Amino acid sequence: MDNRLKKRLKVEYQKEDFNYKEVDGIPIFLNDKYVSGDNQKYMKMYDWMSKGYDLAETIVGKLKYGNGINNMRSENISKLEWRDYCSVLYVSIGTGKNLEFIPKMINKKKLDIVGADISLGMLKKCKKKFNKQLNLSLINCCAEDLPFKDNEFDIVFHVGGINFFNDKALAIQEMIRVAKQNTKILIADETADYIEKQYKKSKLSKKYYQGVTFDFKDISSAIPNGVKELQTELLGENKFYCITFRK
Ligand SMILES: C[S@@+](CC[C@H](N)C(=O)[O-])C[C@H]1O[C@@H](n2cnc3c(N)ncnc32)[C@H](O)[C@@H]1O
Repeated sequence: MDNRLKKRLKVEYQKEDFNYKEVDGIPIFLNDKYVSGDNQKYMKMYDWMSKGYDLAETIVGKLKYGNGINNMRSENISKLEWRDYCSVLYVSIGTGKNLEFIPKMINKKKLDIVGADISLGMLKKCKKKFNKQLNLSLINCCAEDLPFKDNEFDIVFHVGGINFFNDKALAIQEMIRVAKQNTKILIADETADYIEKQYKKSKLSKKYYQGVTFDFKDISSAIPNGVKELQTELLGENKFYCITFRK
């Protein structure tokens, strides 16, 4: 594990005698307690989808929605407070697509980025794409069980995934815990309407979404009272919601 990542971990994980596995240079911090139910189901789905994920977005996404998905990604990412040398945590980084949309005036090489995801397949793909271009450390873990110290990151964000996490409230608490005081946190995902029209219809994903429902209230009610500057917006012709607030 690289030292930049190691120094951000909880102290118990920094001890010399702490054992963990690595696959292709990606540290595995998956706790069985959280790899069950929907988390396990979607981990398997994304492991399977990882090879074609970017291609599907580029081809199918473009044919169906033109620049809509890129515009939505760019709009989300521009809401964060990017600055040189800041520490960034991207929860559920997947193949890292959103990193392509960091505002152009930011020198990406001066960012210290950590990406966490439950799917090793997605992380491997991300590593292949960005390893040499960015200061990017990847770790395989659940959003509900982030292995980082409290108050560690200047930017914390999540785009896509939380709608079907086993424990949305715990994942949000974890994002808040690891963010520095006053950090702006962003949480975005698809709306229920878009899940019905896209995920439940697409040949690639429909078998994983049969019989599932999503209610935005499950997310909004999981945001703790006491966060500052809470805002919720709909983006991309109501396909996505985006929540921002400050710790
Ligand atoms: C729709 S993809 C989004 C990937 C990427 N953020 C993007 O915008 O392209 C959802 C991601 O969430 C991850 N994921 C699902 N459940 C998770 C959990 N409980 N903890 C961490 N990551 C999770 C999946 O492995 C997948 O990479």
